Formats: sequence, C-alpha cells, structure tokens
Amino acid sequence: MWWENAVFYEIYIASFADSDGDGIGDINGIRKKLPYLKEFGIDALWLTPFYPSPRVDNGYDVSDYCAIDPQYGTLAAFDLLVEEAHQLEMRIIIDVVVNHTSTKHPWFIESASGKEHPKRDWYIWRDQPNNWESFFGGSAWKYDAATDQYYYHSFAEEQADLNWQNQEVKQAVFDVLQFWLGRGVDGFRFDVINNLTVSDQFIDNPVRKDGKQDHCNDVNQPGIKHVLKELNQWIKTVDPSIFTVAEISSDQLARINSYTEDGLFDTAFHFNLGSMEELDLEKLTRDFKEMSRQKKIPTLFFNSHDMSRSWQRLAKENRDIYRLLTVFLLINRGIPFLFQGEEQGVGDYLPQQLADIRDIQAKNKYQEELILRGKSHALIMANQVNRDRSRGMLPWLSNQQSGWIGLAAVNQEAKGILADYQNLIRLQKTEGPFTAIRNIELTGDCLSYQTESLQIILNFGQPIKHSLEGNRKTIFGNGMLSEDGHWVHLPAKACWIGKEQL
Ligand code: NOJ
Repeated sequence: MWWENAVFYEIYIASFADSDGDGIGDINGIRKKLPYLKEFGIDALWLTPFYPSPRVDNGYDVSDYCAIDPQYGTLAAFDLLVEEAHQLEMRIIIDVVVNHTSTKHPWFIESASGKEHPKRDWYIWRDQPNNWESFFGGSAWKYDAATDQYYYHSFAEEQADLNWQNQEVKQAVFDVLQFWLGRGVDGFRFDVINNLTVSDQFIDNPVRKDGKQDHCNDVNQPGIKHVLKELNQWIKTVDPSIFTVAEISSDQLARINSYTEDGLFDTAFHFNLGSMEELDLEKLTRDFKEMSRQKKIPTLFFNSHDMSRSWQRLAKENRDIYRLLTVFLLINRGIPFLFQGEEQGVGDYLPQQLADIRDIQAKNKYQEELILRGKSHALIMANQVNRDRSRGMLPWLSNQQSGWIGLAAVNQEAKGILADYQNLIRLQKTEGPFTAIRNIELTGDCLSYQTESLQIILNFGQPIKHSLEGNRKTIFGNGMLSEDGHWVHLPAKACWIGKEQL
C-alpha cells in the first residue's frame, strides 16, 4: 500500500504558515508551502484539527465536524489544498477526534437539554460520579445543575465524551468520515481512540501509593476492539487504500501493537520510542528489536504537537546527535512521521508568564502548583508539561509576527539540517523500501543494524572502530574505511551508512 513507503509530515495548522497576515497559520498558508514540502521529499500530510471549535484544547474540542474554522479558511480552500496536493502526488490525512466533542457541539447541547431528549444517550450521563480522573487533571465528571446529572469528560470539562455504546453515535461518525472521503482525503488519524467509552461498568480506578490513578477502567475497555474493527471495516469497504493510524494513549509497545491486529488499524503511533523523555539507547535498541519483528509496519517519530521538541528533549541541542536520530527515523523499516519544523531543527518555545500559556494542560498544572508552591515554581512546573513548547509559530521569515503564540526557536544550523533530511529521504527512496532489518546491536553507545542493502552505524559515543559485513562503500556520513575494507573508523557522535558493493 502507498503509505508503507510514505514519509508523513504533521502540520499543526495554527503555527505552520500564515497567508493573510494575522500571524496565525491557515489552509492557504499550507497551500503555499506545498512545493517546499514536495521538494524535500514529503509524501503525505497529517493535518491536525481545523474544524470550528471554541479552542479550549486548540481544536481538539470540535463543535462541527463538517466545516472549517473560519480562522483557518473555508471548505473551498480545503478542496484546493487537496487538489493541489494530489497534483503534486502528495496525500492528505486528517485528524478525527471522536472520543469527545466540544460541549458547544449541537449534539451535546441537545443531549444536555433534557433527560428525555433522544440524544441524551449520545453522551455519558450518571446520577453519581465515580473516582475517574481527567487526563488534564481533576475529576472527569462535571455536574449539570439543569438536569441534576454528571457527564463524563476524559479531557477538559468542555470536551464531553461520546457514548460509543450508542449505535447512532457510530453512524453519525461514519457520516462524518464519508463527508471527508467525498472531499478526497486519503486517510484518518484517530485521536485517543483507545479511550472510547464502550462499557457501562464504571468501576473505580485503583489509586497508587503516589496518589496517582491507574487508568485501567476508563481506557482499553472490554469490547473496544469490536467497535474499532467495525470502524476500520467500514472504511476499508469504502476504499481499501484509505489509511488509518491510531493514536493510542500508551507508551507500552504491546498495548500499542494490540490495536494493529488484523481488522484493526493499519498502524499506530509508537509512543514507546516517540515520547521518550531522554535518549535511552538500551530501551531504544530493545524496542527496536521487537518492532523489527512485528508484522504490521510501525511508525517512527521523535516529535509531535504534544511534547517538547527532540532538538531539546533528546538531542540536548547537539547537532550530531540530532543527525543520528534523523538517520534512525528515515533509514529504517517504519513509517516516519515528521513534525513541522523538525527538518530545520527548530527548538521549543517557552512562555515566560501565565498569560502567555495557551495549553490547557499547562494552565491546569500552573493552578495546581500555585496553591502548593507559589508563583515562580508554578511557571517552571507548568512549562515542564507545557505542550506549547512544540507549538511555537514556525519562523519562516526573520520579521515574522505571531498572532497566537510565540515563535519557535530558530536553529543556526537549519540549512544543514534540512539538507540532511532531504538527502536521507532521497536515500530512502532509492534504496528502500526497507522491509527487513537484521543484526540490530548496541555496543557501548554505538547502535548498528542492516537493511537489505545497507549497513547503518550510529555512534552516539566516543570514536570507535566498527567491523563491516561484506564489501561496502560509504554512501552517507563520516567514517573512514580501513584499507582492507573490513572496518570503518567513526569519530565521536558520527554516523555511517555503507552500501554493499556487488
Ligand atoms: C491527543 C491530542 O494529540 C492532544 O493534543 C489532545 O489534547 C488530546 N488527544 C485530546 O483530544
């Protein structure tokens, strides 16, 4: 299928590219950047939510699934974007946020209007809350005085969870997917799709010694796979080439992969590697070995709109380490998902005061810490979980203004980094697809592996001498081959890719 060899690029619209001078990214801004994206090798775009929304969670609180937020443009602009991308042989997948809707969505407004309303059961209403906590902090239940019941929200209280036990909800979502398929999209990214509430058991979650809750009764509920199979089967019946990727809220490899079993999603986001807090080569190697054996092709990424950028988080602003990670991403078996700006090594944006924080998770954290430890500490703690860090406006121009959030930090080595991405994607296209990874080994801080035709050595540590398999010539990186061709000498923090000579 097309997506097995595609390089994806995530666009967080508000901070990508602005076309009308309001300092906020928009759909026409994406259209303008299509030639740039094509030029450096992108095959498919993932657009984060662009639907009308009160933007409590910056678009992940949708109030109309079949329209465009006027801040971002119009349906006509969207249609042009799809058409122009297709002309350039690029595909577009869109974000589908159907675990919850905004409480401003007409479905919720109707549901909240009375206990007898036919849409009452589209959401999860209970007379009494249980102990479930929201992933953004605090209770996951909100009292509604008008009807004297509580509704469930696994994220913000303005994001009410849909009831996936209700058959009409499922049908309404199929209608939404049909709407976008009719406009030519090539696939869907399903937001927190293992959170769907499909059971009415509502058993309290166990609380650990550290006071944190084990979310074992509110996610991955029994019966969820059945619903998700139906969803995927419906999509594949419309057109088997439509791509589905699941966002599973877990960093456990086995859990993530359980959602790509037969009949489920084409793939899922591998947060086990993608969201590592620190570069941990042993974990990386362990999981890499397992992922190389798995049947369904994994995703590979080190960045997204939900975490600090890998330039800071993993590479610690070291250009050489950043390059090694780029090789791992692109010369491998896996679907790379790049996040806007990483190809230029842009860095985190860090708000300096509460008023500049947009991310609801960080705002909540600030309030929590303020009570406990005071103002200056609250800002530090909030920024530690602040998803605004990766959402800084992309600094395309030196005089760029931002209309909603500060600018992402410019990388002085942006040009060289972009050249690396471009060269490695070219290499992936000429030498790939890489379907079999062999001989994965971690020796000290040096990770090596082989694809069908290439030997890859990523030396994260001190200078080393690494043995070679067969007769190889250098095609990327900076290592020096020994005269007899049996060894390559790599400087510290360097990579080397060699191709078999026939
Ligand atoms: C996952 C999205 O990536 C994140 O940005 C959002 O806040 C939650 N889902 C809730 O929709």
